[in-house]
Amino acid sequence: MKKRIQGLSDASKEPALVPMPVSVKRGKGCFVLTQETVLAADEASERSAVQLAGFLRPATGFNPAIVPLAGRDGKVIALVQDKDMPDLGPEGYSLDIEPDRVFITAPTQAGLFYGIQTLLQLLPARIFSAKPVNGGEWPIPCLAIRDWPRFAWRGLMLDTGHDFQHVPFILRFIDLMALHKFNVLHWHITDLGTFPLEIRNYPKLQDPATLGTRMRGEPKRGVKPGRYTQAEAREVVRYAAERHITIVPEIDMPGHSTPALIAYPQFDCPVPHKTWEWDRWEYCAGSEATYGFLQEVLSQALDLFPSRFIHIGGDECPKDHWKKCPVCQAKMKAENLRNEDELQSYFVRRIEAFLNSRGRRLIGWDEILEGGIAPNAAVMAWRADKQSAAIAANAGHDVVMATTRHLYFDYPETVTPLEKVYSFEPVPPGLNPGQASRILGAQAQMWTDNHPTEKEIERLVYPRACAVSEVVWSPAGLRNYSGFVRRLSAHAQRLAELGIDFDMPEEAG
Ligand code: ACM
Ligand code: ZN
Repeated sequence: MKKRIQGLSDASKEPALVPMPVSVKRGKGCFVLTQETVLAADEASERSAVQLAGFLRPATGFNPAIVPLAGRDGKVIALVQDKDMPDLGPEGYSLDIEPDRVFITAPTQAGLFYGIQTLLQLLPARIFSAKPVNGGEWPIPCLAIRDWPRFAWRGLMLDTGHDFQHVPFILRFIDLMALHKFNVLHWHITDLGTFPLEIRNYPKLQDPATLGTRMRGEPKRGVKPGRYTQAEAREVVRYAAERHITIVPEIDMPGHSTPALIAYPQFDCPVPHKTWEWDRWEYCAGSEATYGFLQEVLSQALDLFPSRFIHIGGDECPKDHWKKCPVCQAKMKAENLRNEDELQSYFVRRIEAFLNSRGRRLIGWDEILEGGIAPNAAVMAWRADKQSAAIAANAGHDVVMATTRHLYFDYPETVTPLEKVYSFEPVPPGLNPGQASRILGAQAQMWTDNHPTEKEIERLVYPRACAVSEVVWSPAGLRNYSGFVRRLSAHAQRLAELGIDFDMPEEAG
């Protein structure tokens, strides 16, 4: 990582779009956005036009009128929802820029939103300034773009379970995701460090005494205390939905649950614990009280998060205490479970049955394959060496790729450099087309075990998330690292306007 390369996205150059669209045809000249430009929308697209006006206003100071589409001539940016464009799929769009008009057409509001994101990237990078930019023009190069995503699941994971982040930071994280056409924010809410989500009737979950400050490795910094009220969680969901991003919440269980077990030890196995083994506590999987508690927690979470998928973790459960726990052992006997892996599988099946009864689907880390996977569960594959993606896809389960080696952004750039992230192929080798269709997409994980500040989180995520956006959106055949780096040098100016600075990789020179 070296010097900052200056790059301009003017009309004479390759449009520096990230992620790269499916098809771009160059035209001649520019459409110039001015004070007089109006936004024309049909009824179904009016909300999208209001959103576009909101994106244009801060930097330009323009307050474009929104007018009905019918009979509109002259300089307009038109937004049209046309359900009769099946080739574009549920998230695709077409964007036609001519000297006198811009047309964004899509079968859905999501498609219009992505067309708007592309349009914003075609304007000078100053469009992303939060303050009015004085002087200068707002040209948009004439182009015809047809675009749709390669994968339906295009995600980032944010971990508020090892360390707390504030709501304004999460909203900004969502804004940056929207710019890159991500559509899933996997909110890893709870873990070894903290259980920050308000759950009614269980106020001790956010008691400072539960914070995992004595975690293995003796952190240099402690877990930051904090709490998301249910109203704040709803606001995050609403804000994300406006940007066509689904929040997939994760309440980690049966392991990674130390704060909840310190707060409510009645859901822990009744066996002695070594308190310094902070990461080796798990819910008692034999106790009916545990299932009652978790169903109550999940019920409240379902009220907050409309996502079809609900993540229940399932990772790295040590199961040590289950071996010694009379309640767990009695459950195993009663249910004919041969070992503790099968007890975890029983636990996950029960949670899955509960989620299915509420019309939701369970997703969990790939450990949920061990001891037998629950019937409708989807798998988040993080351990490439376990072949978990292939095993799950082969058994007919949906899979989201979240591989440690390429997609863990808590690892520094020196370990997981931009080029390595860019080279990630979500469909593992050797899958037949039916199995490959089970790969819903991929996501990068921003773990916070090391207690990064919010600024440090952004530095770890960008520009590597730009690379992931292209991995999950752009056609595999169009991906090309040196082309990406060239476009990234212009994209860096957009991110700089948004307060994110990074050094360009050396290859760009
Ligand atoms: C994980 O990294 N424990 C999913
Ligand atoms: Zn137990």
